[in-house]
Amino acid sequence: MAQCLELAQRGKGNTTPNPMVGAVLVHNDKIIGEGLHHFYGSAHAEVNCLDSVAEDDKYLIPESTMYVNLEPCAHTGITPPCANRLAEEKVKRVVIANKDPFEKVSGRGIAILDAAGIEVVTGVSEQEGLWVNRRFFCYETHKRPYIILKWAQTADGFMAPTDKSKLQITGQESMELSHKWRTEEAAIMVGYLTALHDNPNLTARLYQGRQPLRITLDRNLTLPETNNLFNSEAATWILNEQHETVSGNIHYIRVPFDENMLHALLIRLYDAHITSIIVEGGAELHNSFIDCDLWDEARIFTANEMNIGDGIPAPELKHAAPGFEKKVGKDTLALLINQNSDYPYVTGMEL
Ligand SMILES: NC(=O)c1ccc[n+]([C@@H]2O[C@H](COP(=O)([O-])OP(=O)(O)OC[C@H]3O[C@@H](n4cnc5c(N)ncnc54)[C@H](OP(=O)(O)O)[C@@H]3O)[C@@H](O)[C@H]2O)c1
Repeated sequence: MAQCLELAQRGKGNTTPNPMVGAVLVHNDKIIGEGLHHFYGSAHAEVNCLDSVAEDDKYLIPESTMYVNLEPCAHTGITPPCANRLAEEKVKRVVIANKDPFEKVSGRGIAILDAAGIEVVTGVSEQEGLWVNRRFFCYETHKRPYIILKWAQTADGFMAPTDKSKLQITGQESMELSHKWRTEEAAIMVGYLTALHDNPNLTARLYQGRQPLRITLDRNLTLPETNNLFNSEAATWILNEQHETVSGNIHYIRVPFDENMLHALLIRLYDAHITSIIVEGGAELHNSFIDCDLWDEARIFTANEMNIGDGIPAPELKHAAPGFEKKVGKDTLALLINQNSDYPYVTGMEL
């Protein structure tokens, strides 16, 4: 199962809104097939695994065990049901980490395997599987994207100078890692003042991968048209109170600018099949997510050698559980998990 999860994560960032899935076929302690779901719309892990078995080994399939981290699907989507393929191939045993909460599967995949006389074992490395697919499980179960808060702070706990001038807090290694993270999430968001003062691109230009949807707040549509967020480099949502229109890659999304704003945004994101969002600041936006208890994990860089004495204080998380702490260049990266999260961090796992 560890090998399944390792294979699954090779699809990180590319399978959304689908989960990351790996499959391994074992005969007498020997791996005879492996596969993963590479990207959304492509063949599923179980099919790739069965197709990878060498011609000379195919007769072993009915005596083999398939390990797969998610319940095989039971419905025809872009591809046919994997549970039927496993039944046709008469695989002897299927070992599963997590049942699929997706309502078109949810137990039906296992029922097809049972009916075909295949022995089914569930719950193997369940916590690890939940962690790997936390975005997918959160989206399907809680009907909202998984929410990651990310910020950088000085050693004395500030996110920015008081005058909101742009200050590069972290080192190059942390910046590169942040760009890698952008490729792994479906959307990225900043507050109005960050968009205005920092003029960010919010692109993943330091790491090759998928570009997330960019989102910013602009209540009265006062961001200058020269702002980088209006460039053509990515689809962008401008949340505002004025109108709902689309102009090229720029989507003007009307939301109420009151205590329901974040809830309204999450509904819009759910409807657009956005399974995760990384919120990159500023402090006011982070604090509004924290106040609504709308966050799942926080990734905090601390620049150990930078003190500015005064500024915008970094947010304070409520009921946060420690994940890990590690050095990234000269900075320290801390992972914190919301204690109410259904997807606790499992020691030793990747982000
Ligand atoms: N260190 C870091 O990681 C980091 C990251 C990002 C930014 N920064 C820095 O942080 C500073 C900006 O942060 P900030 O805290 O002042 O501003 P911010 O969070 O970027 O933007 C705040 C503005 O966004 C709108 N807004 C935010 N949350 C809202 C909500 N829930 N509902 C309605 N409107 C909401 C409001 O604008 P309106 O009232 O006009 O609608 C509010 O004034 C900049 O200096 C930037 O460089 C640092």
